[in-house]
Amino acid sequence: MRGDPDRLRLPYFPDHAALFVEARALPLSCAVAISPRNSVDDQGTIVAIERTLSIIKPDATERNIVGLIIVRLESAGLQVIAQKRVRWKKKDAKKFYDVHKGQPFYKDLVNFMTSGPIVLQVLEGENAILRNREVMGATNPVDALPGTIRKDFGVNLQRNSVHGSDSEKTAKREIALCFKKSEIVG
Ligand code: CMP
Repeated sequence: MRGDPDRLRLPYFPDHAALFVEARALPLSCAVAISPRNSVDDQGTIVAIERTLSIIKPDATERNIVGLIIVRLESAGLQVIAQKRVRWKKKDAKKFYDVHKGQPFYKDLVNFMTSGPIVLQVLEGENAILRNREVMGATNPVDALPGTIRKDFGVNLQRNSVHGSDSEKTAKREIALCFKKSEIVG
């Protein structure tokens, strides 16, 4: 992992402590060969190549700013390896946002996410989960840093233009909910 080059985490087996590898014990070529989804940065540190789920929300498709948002993602080094424009049914949005069930905003969130087309994407890149969250900015556009998608395009907490997975576990779940393996071309 970045910042701790002696201890590597294999990105596709995140829950198995046994799969932590002491890099010191391996020639670099061996360590890289363990997972083709790692890369080495210019300091020689092995960096996790991750995948994350991104959604361009109805407020953005309505304003025809999908392309502007994709430019931000690609400029940050994230590659779109799957993408489709869909209109969710209530059952899709309820399932996707199941974690928020019981929250006061859940019903409005489901209504909003089914109010128009959305663009589902799988993004791939170095530390893609965190990088995408940095590019998106804080959930509420008023709290987001200048230059982030939500600051520049978001309207309010609900109409905040984009969603991105918040962890490796969530990314796996969300990608599996939205895409078949055959639709992801990395
Ligand atoms: P998103 O990243 O898609 O995850 C859940 C969404 O719920 C969030 O972005 C917001 O758009 C929306 N939301 C609405 N109200 C709230 C709230 N009070 N706290 C967090 N998220 C909210």
